[in-house]
Amino acid sequence: MTFKHRPEIDTIPAYKQGKPAPSAPGVRNFKLSSNENPYQPLDSVKDAIEGSLDRINRYPDMSGWNVVSRLSKEIDVAPENIQLGCGSTEVITQLVNLLAGPGDEVVYPWRSFEAYPIIVTGAGATSVQVPLTPEGTHDIDAMIAALSDRTRLVVVNNPNNPTSTSVSDAQARKLLAAVPSDVIVLFDEAYFQFNTDTDTSVAMDLFREFPNVVVAHTFSKAYGLAGLRIGYAVGPADVIVAMRKVSLPFAVSNMAQIAAVASLDAYDELDSRVQNIVSERDRVVTALRKQGWKIPQPQANFFWISLGEKTATAAQRFVEAGLSVRVFDREGIRISMGESEANDVVLQVCKSLADDGFAS
Ligand SMILES: Cc1ncc(COP(=O)(O)O)c(C=O)c1O
Repeated sequence: MTFKHRPEIDTIPAYKQGKPAPSAPGVRNFKLSSNENPYQPLDSVKDAIEGSLDRINRYPDMSGWNVVSRLSKEIDVAPENIQLGCGSTEVITQLVNLLAGPGDEVVYPWRSFEAYPIIVTGAGATSVQVPLTPEGTHDIDAMIAALSDRTRLVVVNNPNNPTSTSVSDAQARKLLAAVPSDVIVLFDEAYFQFNTDTDTSVAMDLFREFPNVVVAHTFSKAYGLAGLRIGYAVGPADVIVAMRKVSLPFAVSNMAQIAAVASLDAYDELDSRVQNIVSERDRVVTALRKQGWKIPQPQANFFWISLGEKTATAAQRFVEAGLSVRVFDREGIRISMGESEANDVVLQVCKSLADDGFAS
């Protein structure tokens, strides 16, 4: 059917969700395609969620006060500086809708989180995609060169999805020094809990120093609440007030709010899981390098292998081994850390690929 609509929407590439685990005969399947936390929710979180079931007939608290006040103590910022969203994807959407419309530009690294072009085009603004360096890191000088008087937002994704590379403090400060102080710089740190790079920028520190920094964090990854959809932004109070105006009313469910508070209560337990994932990542990377793979040092709960034209052929091997991984055609494959058993299968597949000359 033909219908009247905004033509720019036709240019948006559909978001490709990570595929479910494939069913390969005789092998155990694992889903490693969406950077999820492989662990089941903690019992304490499940209990809290169960306790909230009899309130499903009521709308949630729109301000998310229990989460906001708890976070405020946890990260030592005023509640006025915190805004919740239905995942950090929603707070990023709120920010873009607030800042950029037709004729405005949003500068971000590419390749990076697939939602950025969707959100920017959805707002009617223009994406300025700055290619990553050949090492898969942000090209900060090129991002600075891409600034113009139309720039309304600059996005830093640390660690970057899908390359898992970290942005150093020096690089972040160089960028902030070049961006006018009335243009917001968003630090999307969905995976910061996994980042062990001693040189990394820390967005919360930058927020305390610079007037134009907004931070996006999520409960989806380290906290393992991807299915409940809750994330938050930390930013200057007047930016947060304006973001609330464009937020979707009641977007964050009561259950998500309750699970977030229960997860904050249990963070020590969750943190030991994060540390396990980090050790697994380091184990896998060490083994991959021994196999001959040259992969960028991962700082999130996933790693990236660059395969160019060989991507599709290599991807098939993972499917045959019962693994779903995230394939970027003609570019490479992003693989999330899973249970040890899943990671061992990843290593076996990578070994066979390396033996067949795929490693580079
Ligand atoms: C870089 C980055 N930012 C933000 C998100 C959004 O996460 P959520 O909306 O689940 O909080 C993701 C999810 O994959 C991501 O990779």
